[in-house]
Amino acid sequence: MSFHPVCTLGQLPPGALTEVTVGEKLIAICNVEGSLHAIDGLCPHRGGSLGQGALHGKMVVCPWHAWEFDCTSGSHDYNPSIKVATYAVKMDGEDILVDLP
Ligand code: FES
Repeated sequence: MSFHPVCTLGQLPPGALTEVTVGEKLIAICNVEGSLHAIDGLCPHRGGSLGQGALHGKMVVCPWHAWEFDCTSGSHDYNPSIKVATYAVKMDGEDILVDLP
């Protein structure tokens, strides 16, 4: 595991969700009232890009068929057995870094 810079805090204000790429890996990263969270960027339903969806509170909503995932746990809202990976996030000055395998 190692931390990779993905964007700056100025690019991800509170309430924002965005998609970043590290190597070939898609990550959805969001700012929930100042708390930063990163989850796998591909929806386990049919591969929608979660980082291009919407953020409702702490729920990331897939843009394709509206499955919702809790960005703090990676769990689907109605079926917790469906999960996406979560990744640690830290700040280095203004830079946001995500811990990836
Ligand atoms: S691909 Fe995400 S809900 Fe269908």
